[in-house]
Amino acid sequence: MGMRSKIVGTGMYVPEQVVTNDDLAKRMETSDEWIQQRTGIKERRWITPDQSPAELGRKAILQALEQANLEVGDIECLLLATLSSQHDFPGSSFFIHEELDMGEIPCLDLRAQCSGFLYALNIADGLIISGKFKRVLVIGCEVHSTGLDISTRGRDVSVIFGDGAGAVIVEAQPDESAEASILEVRMHAEGKHARKLWIEAPSSANTPERLTHEMIDDGRIFPHMEGRYVFKHAVTRMPEVLLETLSAASCKLEDVDLFLFHQANLRINEAVASRMEIPPEKVFNNIQKYGNCSAASIPMLLAEATRKGKLSPGQLVSMTAFGSGFTWASALIRY
Ligand code: UT7
Repeated sequence: MGMRSKIVGTGMYVPEQVVTNDDLAKRMETSDEWIQQRTGIKERRWITPDQSPAELGRKAILQALEQANLEVGDIECLLLATLSSQHDFPGSSFFIHEELDMGEIPCLDLRAQCSGFLYALNIADGLIISGKFKRVLVIGCEVHSTGLDISTRGRDVSVIFGDGAGAVIVEAQPDESAEASILEVRMHAEGKHARKLWIEAPSSANTPERLTHEMIDDGRIFPHMEGRYVFKHAVTRMPEVLLETLSAASCKLEDVDLFLFHQANLRINEAVASRMEIPPEKVFNNIQKYGNCSAASIPMLLAEATRKGKLSPGQLVSMTAFGSGFTWASALIRY
């Protein structure tokens, strides 16, 4: 019997600590006006010293399990998309595994940055269609705040990022009975742009030591981005992959009920929607409150849209992301 996969639960969690644009303006030369005008962001969440990525992940997962009426023991595999690993190794997924006491199920970290959740969703879909697992947990989890240059030197990058986690449970269902399912996912990458948005150090390619005091002093341990270059690629690649995915699923743009775009910059999403003539009421954004949470942004959107009644069963949902790597991807699901 053929299998298809369906999202049966969504969850999200953001830390309680709110950091406004005015809070940042106390620590660097910036302003609420500049940040809102260029990015649409009003505030973001940062973890407090007692919190960790694993804790964010655990809370998002527990919400997804509750929605699906499932327990931790029902999950057979954990896929985590993140670019802000809790430690160099092992991957962050192992610390989430520990927090949730997940027995001996396999887990792994996937590093495709802001497109990571869609990459992981595609892999979960493949694992389910192949019959290897019945229930896979896919999570995006990021703690950016502890790795940003919170000074005027790093202001172009540090004002956009926030901390958060989003989780979905993907479940197998027999092909014939499938009403809701993952219809299509398309992924792309272009490594020649890898240094346009990256953290250079620590680096195992740096000999004899991967981390030196000089690297720290030079700020090479912080994210660096050629902002305009990334912006230009994002507004081109996102429409491309969205249309490719729709076409592969034999669907039309007008058929889509809700568009969820990666939350890197509200201006990127407005440009994409306007180029594609997507009506604003069909797009749901939450970057204003949470900033750019990289791999966590799309599952957080899914969870919040569900809870706010913007997304209901049977609707056609398109999700599209672009990020460091460069990576870009799009998924089409019947919710
Ligand atoms: O999530 C993964 C993918 N990431 C993205 O897609 C992000 C894409 N890029 C962007 O969203 C935008 O490039 C940013 C929001 C990051 C930056 O906006 P921008 O309009 O590209 O600004 P810019 O870096 O070109 O800087 C313009 C000016 C510069 O001043 P001068 O040289 O014109 O005097 C910057 O020094 O704005 C200055 N600036 C700031 N001023 C106040 C840069 N950052 C800030 C800031 N506050 N935070």
